[in-house]
Amino acid sequence: MIRPEHLPGCILLTGTPGAGKTTVSQLVAERLPRAARVDGDVFGMMLVSGRANMIDEQGSWNPGPDGLAQLRLRATAACSTADDFADAGFTPVVDTVVETRAELAYVHGRLRARPLMLVVLCPPLAVARHRNATRAVETRVDYDVAPLARNQERELGDLGWWLDSGEQTPEQTADLIVAEAVRRAVVTDADVARPRPGADRPGFTAGLEEAAVE
Ligand SMILES: Nc1ncnc2c1ncn2[C@@H]1O[C@H](COP(=O)(O)OP(=O)(O)O)[C@@H](O)[C@H]1O
Ligand SMILES: [Mg+2]
Repeated sequence: MIRPEHLPGCILLTGTPGAGKTTVSQLVAERLPRAARVDGDVFGMMLVSGRANMIDEQGSWNPGPDGLAQLRLRATAACSTADDFADAGFTPVVDTVVETRAELAYVHGRLRARPLMLVVLCPPLAVARHRNATRAVETRVDYDVAPLARNQERELGDLGWWLDSGEQTPEQTADLIVAEAVRRAVVTDADVARPRPGADRPGFTAGLEEAAVE
């Protein structure tokens, strides 16, 4: 197993549900000498009451304004926690969904830890669906992840490291990330500022953009 020197900055692992974020982020953290896995889902689970429903009547992922604000809260909390660990000398390995360019810019702007290394796990959709269908029932999602995959590709396709783990074991993916994230995954200020065609559905920054325009 690779045991590299301390890795400064923050690794952000994203991708659709079933892509392997949770599995791989744990293995990446295990391979680093001082690292913490920051699970974005945990911050959602901390909401004991008042949690917004993200799924609409058709069973699709479709958060309303309250849901988007709660997704933003999760991201904000994940950034704060990641920075706390980074300040204490641990490499944070964040496991969360970032879908749009504006969401990434939000995270990049919040997070103090540098560099930010973005790894998008992008196994073929059929593989992500199969992984989702065969994992523990409590972590399984029922909605179609294709719209997320499409928007994520459109919005973030030119940023970070898009890693097709479809034919890899989780251990192989983790080894590769530890070995090459510094070279392949770093996202800069200029990267997040570069324009893109535009999201085809709102991200968790939607309310902020409206507020900025008013
Ligand atoms: N190469 C791989 N990378 C990640 N997960 C894999 C891989 N091959 C099979 N799996 C399995 O697929 C599932 C991925 O689930 P998970 O890590 O929870 O995904 P996510 O957090 O992205 O929703 C797990 O059950 C894992 O064991
Ligand atoms: Mg997960």
